[in-house]
Amino acid sequence: MERTFAIIKPDAVAKGFTGEILAMIEKAGFRILGLKRIRLTRPQAEGFYAVHKARPFFEGLVAFMTEGPVVVLALEKENAIADWRTLMGATNPANAAEGTIRKRFAENIERNACHGSDAPETAAVEIPFFFSTSELL
Ligand code: RTP
Ligand code: MG
Repeated sequence: MERTFAIIKPDAVAKGFTGEILAMIEKAGFRILGLKRIRLTRPQAEGFYAVHKARPFFEGLVAFMTEGPVVVLALEKENAIADWRTLMGATNPANAAEGTIRKRFAENIERNACHGSDAPETAAVEIPFFFSTSELL
């Protein structure tokens, strides 16, 4: 079993896609270990995306991620990290495969509906960023 961390981003939450995305997650065989609907603070968003600090899109990304509520999720499944990224689809929805979350719900390369950990080391940092051990059931 492997764990990954996911976010339903502000664009998708605001447009009312939370339920459909959660249904896709469960249908794909993920177990939801933790789930919260929260609004990220600026320090939280900056810390979470610190790896992108030098990128030209960093300021826009932080503004976007703090503009409204998100849903943060800890997910469990065999091969969870790769399988969640497959279900999300490519970062740019123009390149996302049919049936993926980003193909169905993303607006553009920035407002792209969801986040997923990209490696076991990332998941190991991202899950405790938002969930204490006692919140993972
Ligand atoms: P994420 O980290 O959110 O799961 O997305 P990802 O791995 O597919 O993409 P990554 O390269 O890590 O980029 C993080 C997020 O930054 C925004 N972005 N904007 N304007 C741009 O060119 C641009 N590029 C990336 C997206 O919201 C992307 O998901
Ligand atoms: Mg990423």
